[in-house]
Amino acid sequence: MAQERVAIVTGANRGIGLEVTRQLADLGYTVVLGSRDLGKGEAAAKKLKVGDRVMARRLDVTEQSTIDRLRDEIATTFGSLHVLVNNAAIHYDTWENAVDADLRTVQEALDTNLFGAWRMCQAFIPLLRKSKRGRIVNVSSEAGSLASMGAGAPAYAVSKVALNALTRMLAAELRRDRILINSVCPGWVATDMGGPGGRPVREGAASIVWAVELPDGGPTGGFFRDGRPVPW
Ligand SMILES: NC(=O)c1ccc[n+]([C@@H]2O[C@H](COP(=O)([O-])OP(=O)(O)OC[C@H]3O[C@@H](n4cnc5c(N)ncnc54)[C@H](OP(=O)(O)O)[C@@H]3O)[C@@H](O)[C@H]2O)c1
Repeated sequence: MAQERVAIVTGANRGIGLEVTRQLADLGYTVVLGSRDLGKGEAAAKKLKVGDRVMARRLDVTEQSTIDRLRDEIATTFGSLHVLVNNAAIHYDTWENAVDADLRTVQEALDTNLFGAWRMCQAFIPLLRKSKRGRIVNVSSEAGSLASMGAGAPAYAVSKVALNALTRMLAAELRRDRILINSVCPGWVATDMGGPGGRPVREGAASIVWAVELPDGGPTGGFFRDGRPVPW
């Protein structure tokens, strides 16, 4: 019998994370739907109607204890992890400028968007190694591209630049473990964060699922949208 493939998606109770969860469940993964509010996570999981392939769990990426608890549960229940999607993010601060940004907002953005992903990677890399073909997707944004960097959204943009740097470093460090890690921009997507007018959530999520489903020997340490490279 094929080994059960287990995935974790952070910030999955709404928006792009919820749709990534749905698409991975449809592909046959057992998916942990991470939500910092368990009630919201359970309600979201119920709406997906994919049965027991989705498990809602309380997961706040700024709270190490919730990460450790989930790691212990996955280790005991499954013994390994195949996929980590670091999707949770906050503070798309388009109303701010670097010149006079509220640095508390910048710190909060870094705590979730950078350190949240970093904490998750540190906790779960040992279990990803055990799967022999781990995949990590850091959900980034073109706002974190230095090539097109301009004014505005300082907290968000700096956090995504740093997340991209983390992707590069971890890719180099994990290459010999056959773990592929990439940054993915979902494009402008119509969610609470993206606002109206963006593309459908299904398309943004598919951009991420592409990097989950990369074959062995596929790209690592890259920055992609819809399977095509985005300039750093
Ligand atoms: N939408 C776009 O146009 C767009 C464009 C480029 C990149 N992205 C990226 O795509 C990803 C998803 O964005 P989205 O549009 O789906 O955003 P969203 O609708 O605002 O959803 C964000 C999710 O992250 C969760 N979250 C926030 N802080 C958390 C924490 N500390 N621990 C765990 N979960 C936390 C939220 O939970 P609560 O419900 O509890 O708040 C929510 O489930 C983000 O990384 C974003 O930067 C989005």
